Amino acid sequence: MNQDQLKQAVAQAAVDYIAPHLNKNSVVGVGTGSTANCFVDALAAIKHTFDAAVASSEATAQRLRSHGIAVLELNSVSDMRFYIDGADESDHQLNLIKGGGAALTREKIVAAVADEFICIADESKLVNIMGNFPLPVEVIPMARSHVARKLVGLGGEPVWREGTITDNGNYILDVHGLEITDPKGLETAINQITGVVTNGIFGMRGADLLLLGTSEGVKQLTA
Ligand code: 5RP
Repeated sequence: MNQDQLKQAVAQAAVDYIAPHLNKNSVVGVGTGSTANCFVDALAAIKHTFDAAVASSEATAQRLRSHGIAVLELNSVSDMRFYIDGADESDHQLNLIKGGGAALTREKIVAAVADEFICIADESKLVNIMGNFPLPVEVIPMARSHVARKLVGLGGEPVWREGTITDNGNYILDVHGLEITDPKGLETAINQITGVVTNGIFGMRGADLLLLGTSEGVKQLTA
């Protein structure tokens, strides 16, 4: 199977996983990216079995609506059983790097509300130690240089993702050269820098389940 087929396989596996638990009042949290897009497309087939979705980006909201799936504001939702999203990297403890699509802050917020975070990814995303994928950090625009200097102090090499503005109106710094042996510690340290909105380490709230697309089929990994 090629990478696209693996993404479609994990997307369908996620739909199969959540379907028995959905009812007419259920709200499903949906992430951002090409794997999440596959999930949205697969979710459309069971759209009459749940109430609505919450999206982690404007792009995902548009895709959901294009399938006739209602999209709610997160502030109007108090119960969310599942959040389904892709990742740029996952370690074996299901700490993640996310934000390759610049949606990390909304992704982290929606994931925080959900009871269960199901990460869907092809096998190229599973690593022993995260950091080969540059860590995205969302920053308030006027703080970009200040935050970049502080990130250098933490051992990283930040690169401004020029031309990218997040859905929240902010900038992204991609931090190269990190070897993330302490995901929760580094997540916390970066979030302490004034001007950082959040960073793409999902360690304090990692995934509960990783559905990993492999050539031998979809594997279920838990932390
Ligand atoms: C977007 C994300 C995505 O989940 C991540 O970039 C993975 O994307 P893809 O499924 O296209 O590989 O965090 O901000």
